[in-house]
Amino acid sequence: MAAFFDEETIENVREANPIEDVIGSYVHLQRKGSNMMGLCPFHNEKTPSFSVSPSRQIFYCFGCHAGGNVFTFLMKYENMTFPESVRVLAERAGITLPEREESDEDRRWRSEREQILSINKDAANYFYLALKSDEGKDAYSYLRSRNLSDETIKSFGLGYSRKFRDDLYKYLKEKGYPDELLLKSGIISFKEETGIHDLFWNRVMFPIQDMNGKVIGFGGRVMGEGKPKYVNSPETDVFQKSRNMYALFIARKTKRDHFLLCEGYMDVIALHQAGYENALASLGTALTEGHCTLMKRFGKKVMICYDSDEAGQNAAKRAVPMLRSAGIGCYVIDLSPYKDPDEFIKALGASEFDKRIEEAENGFLFTVRKTSEKYDLRDPGEKTRFFSEVARMLLTLEAGVERGSYLSSVAERFNVSERDLKDLLIRESEELSRKPVKRYSAIDPEKTETSYEYDNSPLSSKEPSEHIARGMAETFRMFLQFLCFYPSMLERSSPFISEEDFPGIYRDIYKVIEKELLSGHKINPASIISHFPDEKGQQEAGRIFSYTGEEYDSSEARGKAFKEVLLRIKKERLAKLSGGSGESADKVFSALMDERRKLSDIQRTEFVI
Ligand code: CTP
Ligand code: MN
Repeated sequence: MAAFFDEETIENVREANPIEDVIGSYVHLQRKGSNMMGLCPFHNEKTPSFSVSPSRQIFYCFGCHAGGNVFTFLMKYENMTFPESVRVLAERAGITLPEREESDEDRRWRSEREQILSINKDAANYFYLALKSDEGKDAYSYLRSRNLSDETIKSFGLGYSRKFRDDLYKYLKEKGYPDELLLKSGIISFKEETGIHDLFWNRVMFPIQDMNGKVIGFGGRVMGEGKPKYVNSPETDVFQKSRNMYALFIARKTKRDHFLLCEGYMDVIALHQAGYENALASLGTALTEGHCTLMKRFGKKVMICYDSDEAGQNAAKRAVPMLRSAGIGCYVIDLSPYKDPDEFIKALGASEFDKRIEEAENGFLFTVRKTSEKYDLRDPGEKTRFFSEVARMLLTLEAGVERGSYLSSVAERFNVSERDLKDLLIRESEELSRKPVKRYSAIDPEKTETSYEYDNSPLSSKEPSEHIARGMAETFRMFLQFLCFYPSMLERSSPFISEEDFPGIYRDIYKVIEKELLSGHKINPASIISHFPDEKGQQEAGRIFSYTGEEYDSSEARGKAFKEVLLRIKKERLAKLSGGSGESADKVFSALMDERRKLSDIQRTEFVI
């Protein structure tokens, strides 16, 4: 567990940073009873389901189940490691952390994430130096031929990966990183036939930085023609494509009221060089809901500057409704006759680009115009079908002023009377009320984050996590919640239930709660959460502690619910045991007998809480 700082230090830092103050500086919170509520920064929503509890010092979102203590919040929001979040909050509260030299022990304990970040940083440095070396001459002239200045090359940390299959590997090995970690970083890979080798070979390198400027991955481009044009780092625990955007760490500080959303690295860099520090891009993948949630935090509009070719325009058409449903005002910039922002700037410069920004088309109207191109509007039948489709699009807008004003604009643009369009709207809405409406789901941000349009990277090295059925997860949570709210129940359950009954993270949480209760401590949710250095553990623990207490009519009813939970846990254990677990047969047999006996003991016991 978190051994980089001792428990006392962590608690001091946590107590010196009231969660409502820290989160309040990121999210607008309003008091509601004993809690504070606001719009969740981790998924897209229009009505607040994000709650912060000053008394328990935890946060929890009823929509997406994000939850934890003040450290978890920073880890999630700022993409920090646990020690990083401790350091930042210590500084915020004016606490000096005990300085110590990093011992071997510390190094071992330091979270994997932090070590992977350190590998990436060393690699970025190495690539940068290679670009400046003799061998990097071609790469350097390639970048210069694309009009990039030395200053730009430096500020984006562009580099070069040399022509050896294990050049970077050797360098990182010398720095003392173990193979296992290097493979996890994704920039070194292993193949049966060829052994260990670098992912990038003879490419110009674009380091990808997270919101705080830490290098989390790379894109590597061939110089000139060649396939694949880009190779990108695979997703790792530190590099999640949907939770990061290229150049966001610079763009987030812009004073302008909008971001310039581009398709690629080169576009972003060209725009920055031309003075648009607000340009950013999604990372070798199509725009996802995660990206929208991320941009939404900064309260800016988004101007889409995708390529003017068909692929780019189609991507823009897909991006608009996503941005809109995240509550982001969006516009589409027309770059024709140039292909992309890079070429546009090269040809006409910033002053002309400014004009294009000013003339940018409203996102919704852009999608209507694009839709119209699918139809031959001179044909009466097609024209009717087009307006029906437009009516359905209008129905996705909020009824009232918004829908009304778009309806007028569309009517004017396409020369149709508002009356007729309204009639169509009514007809379509009757039609739709008979079918479920397809919407961008706002609840589960994970669900839609796997659409990588281009993904030429090897599969991520993520380990498969133990599968826990949703119903069982809920059961484990309920049991742990019972323990937190009625600590005396530990004594009642321990003859039947032990840590082996819990899989994965639930076992860890059980162990922590059990330890606290056995040593006579009161359960302090926020402090228990800090026992888990990784975000997943903190989130799950946060979810358990956010429980507000189900109402039971009587202590008998409560006892019955508790018994029900115990039985479910025991039955699950039995099912697992008889499903074969790799243990020897007679061992399994005696365990089975044991567990069966416990099950019938539970059945015969009355629980009253
Ligand atoms: N991309 C990718 N893999 C590819 C092609 C593209 O990951 N094989 C991603 C990259 O993030 C790239 C973006 O899609 O930056 C846009 O692609 P493209 O317009 O082809 O590349 P540019 O960055 O514009 O590169 P250039 O101007 O050098 O052609
Ligand atoms: Mn391009």
